[in-house]
Amino acid sequence: MAQDREEHGQYPPLDRVPQHVGIIMDGNGRWARERGLPRAAGHRAGTENLRVVLRAAVEFGVPVLTIYAFSTENWGRPEGEVSALLAILERVLDRELAELHAEGVQLRHVGHLERIPSRLQEKVLYAVDLTQDNDQLILNVAFDYGGRTELVDAVRRIIKDGIPADQVDEDTISRYVYTAGLPDPDLIIRTSGEMRVSNFLIWQGAYAELYVTSTYWPDFDKQAFYEALGDYGQRDRRFGLVSR
Ligand code: IPE
Ligand code: IPE
Ligand code: MG
Repeated sequence: MAQDREEHGQYPPLDRVPQHVGIIMDGNGRWARERGLPRAAGHRAGTENLRVVLRAAVEFGVPVLTIYAFSTENWGRPEGEVSALLAILERVLDRELAELHAEGVQLRHVGHLERIPSRLQEKVLYAVDLTQDNDQLILNVAFDYGGRTELVDAVRRIIKDGIPADQVDEDTISRYVYTAGLPDPDLIIRTSGEMRVSNFLIWQGAYAELYVTSTYWPDFDKQAFYEALGDYGQRDRRFGLVSR
């Protein structure tokens, strides 16, 4: 308890908490290279770090988190690295699902499933089903996710559903993207210093505040997350209007 209070004192309540945070978890490869380790070791270290950030999200009151774990473009990486990333997803599901469930995390998958091995597909679907009523944190795992593919999928489904062209508006698209029903991200964090979106939440993030830190993902700790949220709290969000 004493430790709890101490910890809490270290993190005073935030002025404004984003309702949805997207994280582009980047820099695992460079983190590993700087240590003379294989890239897969960086991905493993990044996965370890996820636990820290998930707990922090719950503590700081962030209700929805979307993490970019594997992009549609990442299939083009060397086969060994792709296999390592698939193996990591499987290991997380095997080893961490019970704890995530106990902590009230509702897992969702955004992206395509059919290109991953069928055994892993089943594990993802099981995890999503098991945790569907949890309410501490909605965690969207973007795996085989690409924003452009997401929009193509949305358009196809809109056409298949027979929605007349003159009835398609922005709300329609929002209802057909993978994050339907969730608020748009208020804040998108990218680690490792890259100043780009790399096909992440391109529809939903139209007005997201962007926060880029040079810290590599495996080193992006609770303090770093708190700083990002604090920075967000200082932003003047105008949405194309004028400051109040
Ligand atoms: C992010 O780290 C993880 C994935 C893209 C899967 P990277 O693997 O992109 O690391 P860098 O950017 O090469 O350092
Ligand atoms: C974006 O990182 C994808 C993920 C974090 C999963 P990348 O490392 O693949 O993006 P680029 O190549 O720097 O744009
Ligand atoms: Mg990268």
